[in-house]
Amino acid sequence: MKEMLEKIRASALEALNEENADLEAIRIRFLGKKGELTAVLRGMGALSAEERPIIGQLANEVRAEIEKAIAERSSAAAEKKLAEKLLSEKIDVTMPAKAEIGHIHPLTLISRELEDIFVGMGFSIVEGPEVELDYYNFQALNIPENHPARDTQDTFYITDKILLRSQTSPVQARTMEVQKPPIRIISPGRVYRSDAVDATHSPLFHQLEGLVIDKNITMGDLKGVLEIFAKETFGEDTRIRFRPHHFPFTEPSAEVDVSCFACGGNGCRMCKGEGWIEILGAGMVHPNVLRNCGIDPDVYSGFAFGFGIERIAMLKYHIDDMRLLYENDVRFLSQF
Ligand code: DAH
Repeated sequence: MKEMLEKIRASALEALNEENADLEAIRIRFLGKKGELTAVLRGMGALSAEERPIIGQLANEVRAEIEKAIAERSSAAAEKKLAEKLLSEKIDVTMPAKAEIGHIHPLTLISRELEDIFVGMGFSIVEGPEVELDYYNFQALNIPENHPARDTQDTFYITDKILLRSQTSPVQARTMEVQKPPIRIISPGRVYRSDAVDATHSPLFHQLEGLVIDKNITMGDLKGVLEIFAKETFGEDTRIRFRPHHFPFTEPSAEVDVSCFACGGNGCRMCKGEGWIEILGAGMVHPNVLRNCGIDPDVYSGFAFGFGIERIAMLKYHIDDMRLLYENDVRFLSQF
């Protein structure tokens, strides 16, 4: 019996040493109910009283040794499996990310570009409130109550005296009130008008206002500044022209066109055959406006201009529907 137990021990350990040993099958074969060791133990009844404890002890030893060997094999296998898994799932955290980064919105892009152009000419940037007093939006700018110019700007009123500014021009008046000449500012920002949304209108849009006040400022200075602005925005070959117009806050006033940058002025679809594209309003600041803001029109003169930022962006980037600028469709934005 002793020999049988030693044989079981040896063959169990040998089986466990094999490369792809099936641990469960080995356990059943040697330690299971119908296993080889169990069979030996069953035969112990036939042994003498002296032999029984010796064989019993040996049988227990063999059992314990096989169990231990199985446990060791099993944990080694589990460790190996885990190591393989960790290796296959390894992530290199130092690898560059593939995520697509965002794009600058075309309105932000054009605003920064325009601001840079004017800052380059010595202008500083001044902001004003979007919720504005009727006084600054209209009266200080030489547009008294019942003036017909009020009808051309469908204004959102909050109370009789408070409104959402319909233009950036009130920043002119606010600046002149607190700053003595020389003044050289631009004021970009949101403006509001009660317009229905379509391809060229929106109740909220953006304007950029310019104002220069000093001694001996002439229309020639205005032309020079706008020429640089036009060339830097639309290209070196761009020319500008002034058409007489009327604004209450400037005298004389003009509407300013740029030569069509698509056809060079010959006439095309972009300029509707005109060769010219209207881009802004401008003029010499009206003496009444200077006086309203505490500046003596006999000592100082100045010019002002204002344009829609959306319009410039649409022209420059060939955007044919203003709504694209507000819908934030990624397919549109990713082109900038
Ligand atoms: N505020 C005018 C508008 O909204 C634009 C404008 C025209 C501004 C002439 C000016 C100017 O400063 O001189 O239509």
